[in-house]
Amino acid sequence: MLSEELRKELRTRVAHAVTNREAAVDVMKELQRHYGWLTDEAVAEAAELLGLTPLQVEELATFYEMIYRRPVGRRVIHVCDSISCWALGGESLMAHLARQLGIEPGGTTADGMFTLLPCCCLGNCGDAPTLMIGDTLYGLVTPEKADEIVGKEGTAAQ
Ligand code: FES
Repeated sequence: MLSEELRKELRTRVAHAVTNREAAVDVMKELQRHYGWLTDEAVAEAAELLGLTPLQVEELATFYEMIYRRPVGRRVIHVCDSISCWALGGESLMAHLARQLGIEPGGTTADGMFTLLPCCCLGNCGDAPTLMIGDTLYGLVTPEKADEIVGKEGTAAQ
């Protein structure tokens, strides 16, 4: 359930967007921040706020990799698996993280802290391999650096 304050703020953002669809990602991200993932309830609320049908919101949600339609951990680690990152060790980086976290790609740690997901190019190809957690991009990620990042992010999320 959204607070009246957040609902009002989101209505204002939608009103200032050129089209309702333009505001859709912003609204879905806010609802995701609120619920932890984009629940069915959040899809219905987004549809109501945006003047779209739930199916239209669903279509938009499934298009964006950073919108989660399933429960995720408190921190989602997106490991780029596009060409530059793949060529510079992205695959072994993913394998290292999976091993360290004790989960498969796509999985969530038992304590609900981390979800590990492959993703498309994050636009940081010059510093491949790259991963992203929240809004923070990390480039030139070695396995050692990945361990540091995960440790830091885990501490921050507690
Ligand atoms: S290929 Fe990984 S950031 Fe572009």
